[in-house]
Amino acid sequence: MSAAPKSTEVPMTLPHLADKARTGEPIVMVTAYDFPSAQVAEDAGVDMVLVGDSAAMTVLGYPSTVPVSVDEMLMLAAAVRRGLRSPLLVGDLPFGSYEGSDEQAVRTAQRFVKEAGCDAVKLEGGGPAVDRARAIAGAGVPVMGHVGLTPQTATALGGYRAQGRTAQRAVQVARDALDLQEAGCFSIVFEAIPAAVADEIMPRMEIPVIGIGAGAGTHGQVLVFHDLLGIYDGLSPRFAKRYAHVKGDMIAGVKAYADEVRARRFPAAEHTYSIDPEELDRFRAALTEHATGRSWSAAESV
Ligand code: KIV
Repeated sequence: MSAAPKSTEVPMTLPHLADKARTGEPIVMVTAYDFPSAQVAEDAGVDMVLVGDSAAMTVLGYPSTVPVSVDEMLMLAAAVRRGLRSPLLVGDLPFGSYEGSDEQAVRTAQRFVKEAGCDAVKLEGGGPAVDRARAIAGAGVPVMGHVGLTPQTATALGGYRAQGRTAQRAVQVARDALDLQEAGCFSIVFEAIPAAVADEIMPRMEIPVIGIGAGAGTHGQVLVFHDLLGIYDGLSPRFAKRYAHVKGDMIAGVKAYADEVRARRFPAAEHTYSIDPEELDRFRAALTEHATGRSWSAAESV
């Protein structure tokens, strides 16, 4: 068994994560986007929390992850930071915030650490992103890679669909993963690739691999908070298993509240504040005095 402590006891560190991967103890990661979802992740005892750019769709209502800005992500990440103690906090670098140059990538990564309190950042894809990952890691910011389906460039990949389903495309996924590992990523996400392809790559991976739609052979799993709890009812990929139906509960709760207000059943006595009867009498007298033309200051001295 791993010597790594439970995430609820002490802050998760990179060595603890590597230890879990080495000893085969599954790593649990979930996204969070605000203070309450961070508290839920904390209390549930997960190992890592990702402020994913999936926030663009799940909480900001954009049609894809592309439009979300660095400032929007930083605001969400800072809120998550305030709700977390133990899990490792990873901030997702949004589209357009790191691809341009190593300098841009390092500057953006540093903002996530300095301004939002993230422990690490994540970027998507291979190719030029490998150099960006190397630069970020070289600047002392732990960086996570992400290969397979990379939503920021989904259009170029032919849409939101599984990747690596031909030998040629599977080689591309493997090459990206190994390049990112070599560049110094502390961990990597495999998204939406056949389990058999992930299983072939795994023996070559020395860093923790977190899967989402990549089968059961990775070191850990990540799911989007709103998908797993059934809060978001937009596009739902096959790997997004639902463990609760919170949106239904939320609608039922708000509807019950609306019904009670309309039926004048809410608020009831237990939801209201009282006043000492003598104070109430004085207040009524003050109102009467005021109604007869005296000033409020005179009325207040009643
Ligand atoms: O943005 C996100 O939520 C992600 C996860 C799906 C890994 O990148």
